[in-house]
Amino acid sequence: MSLFDVLPRSAAAVAGRLTVGGCALADLAAEFGTPAFVVDEAGLRETARTYLREFGARHRDTDVHFASKALPCAPVTRILAEEGLGCDVASAGELAIALAAGFDPAHILLHGNAKSDRDIGDAVAAGVGVIVVDGPDDVDRLERLAPDRQAVLLRVNPAVPGETHAAMDTGSPEAKFGVALEQAPALLERIAGVDGLELQGLHVHIGSQLLDLDGFGRAAEALAGLGHFGVYDLGGGLGIAYRPQDAAPTVADYAEATVGALHAHLDPTARLIVEPGRSVVGRSIVTLYSVVTVKRGVLTHVAVDGGMGDNLEPMLYGQRFAPFVLDADRSGETCELVGHHCESGDVLERGVELATPRVGDHVVVPVTGAYCYSLSNNYNGARRPPVIICNDGDARIGVRRETMDDLLVRSVL
Ligand SMILES: Cc1ncc(COP(=O)(O)O)c(C=O)c1O
Repeated sequence: MSLFDVLPRSAAAVAGRLTVGGCALADLAAEFGTPAFVVDEAGLRETARTYLREFGARHRDTDVHFASKALPCAPVTRILAEEGLGCDVASAGELAIALAAGFDPAHILLHGNAKSDRDIGDAVAAGVGVIVVDGPDDVDRLERLAPDRQAVLLRVNPAVPGETHAAMDTGSPEAKFGVALEQAPALLERIAGVDGLELQGLHVHIGSQLLDLDGFGRAAEALAGLGHFGVYDLGGGLGIAYRPQDAAPTVADYAEATVGALHAHLDPTARLIVEPGRSVVGRSIVTLYSVVTVKRGVLTHVAVDGGMGDNLEPMLYGQRFAPFVLDADRSGETCELVGHHCESGDVLERGVELATPRVGDHVVVPVTGAYCYSLSNNYNGARRPPVIICNDGDARIGVRRETMDDLLVRSVL
């Protein structure tokens, strides 16, 4: 694979300058500053359409809900709502963002292992389509807070570990999500007896950044003994390529695996829900940095003006990326690409070949659309980067850069 396979779909080299959405990244850096998240609107639309097409072709009765935890950013997810995706939220906060983005409440699903009264109350008030029960305490809350026929699914832990980094496996028996298979029948019976609830079916989610999709079949098989239902939510988790050398399944492979699991082990006439996050948005955003300093010693440390404040993936999950110096045609050297945070672990990529970096160069990190904006933070007083949405040569600010005032806005002095 080439670098273009992990760059946004609209990326092009035009007279030696890299563009995304028809906008030269160097011009964006000059206009909006760095660090910045740059979004490829057309690429995002294309991925949403691919999802609808691949699932529609295999199982017409499929709802594709974007897992908003991957990118809870209303100006961007509005594009997904326009394309017809639903939305999955894990809290009242994500719900508020999804509603602001314009998702139809009937097309929103709430899940979460520890939902508060506020989470459930806001979801019921908004009229969300489905609430996923994670355990008996959710049923207590729903009995109090959901007077009408609220559609629910029960999340079951299928005891099928997701083959991924330990911190992203949610299907192991030890995981905190859902109820064990053995406990499911009693809770299903209880839910069925609650007047205010309409038990529609079952939910599983075995993990994130799954590069092997066999687990979907095993998870569906595990659910099969619990009875027949009209709806099965098989979760998200499709893994993606972060570097040209990474091999990852396609959306079509994911549709084949989940629809195949539904048809083989559950019910080919049931409604299928899937909740992909990372694979919907990952490739359509790049992060643009500037080099602040270069130190050549035992190692060559190239430090940029961001780091673990805007990308925690390497630190939390050991995720590897493929950074490069923008528009540079120079010989390379092996570098440690580090951030500006006061932390030795603030390393974006180790041992990466970069075109002899100089102070003031711009560095691009591809595939930062998922879980980077959502996990961004103010560590060391970092101001979170803007989100710049590019399309057809036009660049607009989706989220502005944080200011010094923002750092103090909640302080009562
Ligand atoms: C319940 C649930 N659904 C969907 C997702 C989205 O997963 P991914 O972004 O890997 O597709 C997650 C993330 O782990 C999740 O916990």
